[in-house]
Amino acid sequence: MEKSKRNLKALIAQMTLEEKAGMCSGADFWHLKGVERLGIPSVMVSDGPHGLRKQEEAGDHLGINDSIRAVCFPPAALSACSFDRQLVQEMGERIGKEAQAENVSVVLGPAVNIKRSPLCGRNFEYYSEDPYLSGEMAAACISGIQSQRVGTSIKHFAANNQEYNRMSCSSEVDDRTLREIYLPAFETAVKKAQPKTVMCSYNQINGTFASENHWLLTEVLREEWGFEGYVMSDWGAVNERVPGLAAGLDLEMPSSGGVGDREIVQAVKDGTLDEAVLDRAVERILRVVFDYADNRREEAFDLEGDHAFAKRAAEESMVLLKNEGMLPLQDTENVAVIGGFAKTPRFQGGGSSHINSFRVDSAWDSLSGRANVTYAQGFSAVEDIYDEALAKEAVEAAKRADKAVVFAGLPDSFESEGYDRKHMRLPQCQNRLIKEIACVQPNLAVVLHNGSPVEMPWLGDVKAILEAYLGGQAGGSAVADLLYGKANPSGRLAETFPLKLQDNPSYLNFGEGDQVEYREGVFVGYRYYEKKDMQVAFPFGHGLSYTTFAYANIRLSADTATDKDTVTVSVDVTNTGAVSGKEVVQAYVKDLTGMAKRPVKELKGFEKVSLQPGETKTVEITLCPRSFAWYHIGLHSWFIGSGKYEILVGSSSADIRQSITLTMQSAQRLPLHLHMNTTIGELLADDRTRELGKKLKQKMDAFFGGAGAEVPEGAEGEAISDEMGEAIALAAPLRNLSGFGICTKEQILEMLAEYETLST
Ligand code: BGC
Repeated sequence: MEKSKRNLKALIAQMTLEEKAGMCSGADFWHLKGVERLGIPSVMVSDGPHGLRKQEEAGDHLGINDSIRAVCFPPAALSACSFDRQLVQEMGERIGKEAQAENVSVVLGPAVNIKRSPLCGRNFEYYSEDPYLSGEMAAACISGIQSQRVGTSIKHFAANNQEYNRMSCSSEVDDRTLREIYLPAFETAVKKAQPKTVMCSYNQINGTFASENHWLLTEVLREEWGFEGYVMSDWGAVNERVPGLAAGLDLEMPSSGGVGDREIVQAVKDGTLDEAVLDRAVERILRVVFDYADNRREEAFDLEGDHAFAKRAAEESMVLLKNEGMLPLQDTENVAVIGGFAKTPRFQGGGSSHINSFRVDSAWDSLSGRANVTYAQGFSAVEDIYDEALAKEAVEAAKRADKAVVFAGLPDSFESEGYDRKHMRLPQCQNRLIKEIACVQPNLAVVLHNGSPVEMPWLGDVKAILEAYLGGQAGGSAVADLLYGKANPSGRLAETFPLKLQDNPSYLNFGEGDQVEYREGVFVGYRYYEKKDMQVAFPFGHGLSYTTFAYANIRLSADTATDKDTVTVSVDVTNTGAVSGKEVVQAYVKDLTGMAKRPVKELKGFEKVSLQPGETKTVEITLCPRSFAWYHIGLHSWFIGSGKYEILVGSSSADIRQSITLTMQSAQRLPLHLHMNTTIGELLADDRTRELGKKLKQKMDAFFGGAGAEVPEGAEGEAISDEMGEAIALAAPLRNLSGFGICTKEQILEMLAEYETLST
């Protein structure tokens, strides 16, 4: 979007105090205020994120009232599984065109909160448990929408990872975890795609509402990352208007009924708010308003074209979790299609993102045209009731057929914006029927319709599982084509499927209470399961294809790098199967320096590549300095340690095919803080103090009878093993040296002073 060339400062100088305060809150549910006498238009914003929810009449933020007929693209939980920036960007372009056609200035999305727990009711709207993937998807989506001269509002900033008490609870998260897990998706999006607006979240972060968090909205977002647009509140997220404005919250949404505006006017009048702060907020808002209004263009709403794209996006994203030779189905086979979701797919989630779809494809619409396919409902798609008659009919149908496919999933009431799931199970009636069918039909596949992982008690009893997530309005026809091999699955999980809810790292600290402690720290999703070497149902990045791929010749652009360099890792990927397909090549970085407690490995790059049978392509993935960094709380900044890093390249987090080692020669050093409680072990571990450490250890050893000292005979000698002596010497703080009379306190302080100069 072109930047407005208007002289906004001059315009603002003509505005009254009341008009300026008025610009800082909505006129109604969806419009900003205009100022007619000055030619400031009243522009509209609308949800987002996976289609346009433009309400023409009664407005609400919970999806209650109707919106215009539009296209429901695959929600983020599914589109992230495409691992395809191009695809997500095109989805953005299409949503942007629809918004332009409908005169919507800002689309409220993408939503990029990290999936901390599978229970979050809104996970279907979010991309991933992984911050790198979330950031890449978000940047692609924003670039796509904004290429159509329509703004975006990346949300919900920040640490809004549950629905329970979402408007008041405090997410208690340490700095390192915020920086490494919960903020990077926003950071990447801001740096790569400069969204026109950011939507702050409802919750508090470490006791301060996001809507009045100066650190978050000003220091981090603007001063560190360079965000240029305006910050709007989530609908009703303002706690105190004037502190919010001072913290960097420009626009309160929706309307505050004039309350917030009056408070701003009063604060300027009584001198508690500098008018310059208000002027700056108005300028930020007006810049985005005019960027839109001055760059409008004629667009037509291409419903049919967008529907066709929605199908392709779903096909490229759905994940084949398991396939023991059962799929694709063959035209000649008799297939029993079972389950209410085949005719009534659940294709989107409830709440503010709910699209009024102009058409919905069910899988049965496509499958019913086939001669040898039968349908039995088995169970309803909307409630959990085991109906004996329906179940019996389904079991009989499955028994008669060559193969059976059960269309299972979570009913709407099981997951939605506004509340979290209580458990990770499918409706009982579905689990029971799947087990019963598995007893009579060994060739059984399950297609899942869900916004977030489910437990699969029948995992070992079925031959194939297709994770369709919430497929968008064309998801049904995409499923049909994937089942019959008209399309080859190429989606990869953007989140781990744990075996059971209790395995999830946030299990003991999720949901209830006014404060939610993020005690698992940076160990979210696969970062946790891998660190604990736990078995999972399906790992992050996993997804099968109807073809196979081989990896060879991993190489680096350089074997050593500095903390300022980018490094390219290349690998040759060959389609070794009989059909064309797409592989998602994933690059993970493993820190071998041992300087910090870090995940086993972290995703730092990926590329999706399309290959004909027999074809080989070289895939290149570029790693930047941040790919190696961790956030150091003491330094308040990112840190890259010198030493070895392994680059692991593969088809999923659990299927690494090639690896190579890089030596990092970083100019960054951790500061030395030596004091009387520094241990000898710490001195020995750091090359800057190793010599001093050796010297002091010798003195300790001599004193305690370590190496070179005389070993006492009898009971006392036996009580101290060599290992124990060593451990005690290493853990000894320097003050012990004076305590035991080995050196005087003054001598120790003198030595330390000498070494302090090495701190930088
Ligand atoms: C949601 C936002 C949404 C807004 C407007 C809020 O309840 O949290 O994501 O954009 O409503 O509908």
